[in-house]
Amino acid sequence: MSNNVTLNQFLIQQQRNVLEASGTFTLLLNTLATACKAIAHQVKQGDLIDVLGSAGSENVQGEVQKKLDVITHDIMVHALQSSGQVAGLASEEEEEFLTIPGEYPKGKYLVLFDPLDGSSNIDINMTVGTIFSILRAPESLEPSLGDFLRKGSEQVCAGFVLYGPATMMILTTGQGVNGFTLDQEIGEFMLTHPNIRIPEATQEFAINMSNQRFWEAPIKRYVDECVLGDTGPRGKNFNMRWIASMVAEVYRILTRGGIFMYPYDIRDPSKPGRLRLMYEANPMGFIVEQAGGLCSTGRARILELQPSELHQRVPVILGSKQEVERVESYFQSQG
Ligand code: F6P
Repeated sequence: MSNNVTLNQFLIQQQRNVLEASGTFTLLLNTLATACKAIAHQVKQGDLIDVLGSAGSENVQGEVQKKLDVITHDIMVHALQSSGQVAGLASEEEEEFLTIPGEYPKGKYLVLFDPLDGSSNIDINMTVGTIFSILRAPESLEPSLGDFLRKGSEQVCAGFVLYGPATMMILTTGQGVNGFTLDQEIGEFMLTHPNIRIPEATQEFAINMSNQRFWEAPIKRYVDECVLGDTGPRGKNFNMRWIASMVAEVYRILTRGGIFMYPYDIRDPSKPGRLRLMYEANPMGFIVEQAGGLCSTGRARILELQPSELHQRVPVILGSKQEVERVESYFQSQG
């Protein structure tokens, strides 16, 4: 614990360093924190309040929606639309971006979010999370699609909340990464993991091995070399992890290093990857880079990609710097 600093105290301290700060950003983070506490409550009650299982619908990605996908989307939308701090929002569960109903004031930020990442894990009681990405709204406060389709490098803040054994918020505003743990007794996120840094080297990789036959050659080469361990060119043994919940994988990498890959594969040429640029890759890329790691498609830095649509998918390779650089070098040497 770091002297019992609450998320709010931490934000106010940061706000004091920005001369022109009006306090809107601090309020927005409070809105997000409160919404995520409400989501944590739903997730932790599970079957006691009948929130598990399918909602009987599909989302814009053609995926079966869980009841909790719908409930958490509604919690986020209501909290943000009524907050007065945002001019628009976009959810992974909704095809178009949402504006602010006439009865509420508009604010100077745009928020994009995945309300419940890893929700296929919900029924088996595994860790899931909410991911968010914050951009500045246009001066007019009347956002168009183009105002959302901005490069990841333009994010002013990114974070995720992890609903695991402990509820945690991981946050960056471009000045490093800090982690907060929800104190259930007092209902506050407390600064428990200041200035998180990802170790540069690692001996742990995460990838869905069942897709192996669909991978490109550089990914096959990297994973083959890890699997060969101390009998191969790497000269050391590797460990493999696959939780199938990106929030949990990224948190593990922030904690002890590692590499996470959901690469391009040839199964469906219309899908350049599984993960979404705006709701997963960009916010996680910002966090990982701010913690000293890298986030790449294998061929390009994720945060420099110009988005073309809200639900665009991308290959994602992120984690410890030296390992991501190695994968990139395998792509380069392939030409
Ligand atoms: O995009 C949702 C997600 O659940 C991620 O959190 C996770 O990394 C990935 O999908 C798991 O995919 P798969 O089921 O193919 O292993």
